[in-house]
Amino acid sequence: MPQNKVPLIKLCTMLSKTIQEGLNNQVLMEAQSSQAYLAMASWAEIQPGLEGVTEFFFRQSDEERVHMLKLIRFINERGGFATVPALEQPVVTFKSLNYVFKEFLAHELKVSGSINELVHLALAEKDYATHNFLQWYVTEQMEEERTARTLNDKLEMIGDDRSGLYLFDRDILNYGGQDAGKK
Ligand code: FEO
Repeated sequence: MPQNKVPLIKLCTMLSKTIQEGLNNQVLMEAQSSQAYLAMASWAEIQPGLEGVTEFFFRQSDEERVHMLKLIRFINERGGFATVPALEQPVVTFKSLNYVFKEFLAHELKVSGSINELVHLALAEKDYATHNFLQWYVTEQMEEERTARTLNDKLEMIGDDRSGLYLFDRDILNYGGQDAGKK
């Protein structure tokens, strides 16, 4: 190679195709999360006495949209192309409040698994910028899993006790869902 030529790889900071695909898959997952929680919010809103749960899921839905937007902006800033995905209709009716929160936890665990895979991929590809970017999501997932587990534990303890459910709905906004709009 002539002395004055720098290898192209040294100049190139763009995302690899594999990382771009992985990040775009995560865009889809965050968009699906936002839709799933929006459906939970809408279901809760037509149940009697679940004003707190309703607001909690509206906020969760907004948060997931923020997660999606952060990914889109990052992909494009790094010279990739974030593709806005098509979405399937989420589950829109639920047999019980307990079932909603079990689904919430299951969903968050799935998202955490997907983020972990992405972190692994970023390391394997030696993409340290993406690895660094993803740390925010690792922390966020730890918080969201903790919130989902806590709320499931509380519901288990409450069982069919109506006054317990009243307090659960009244106090739920103290858990998670506070970060909508946080960038
Ligand atoms: Fe952004 Fe809770 O997944």
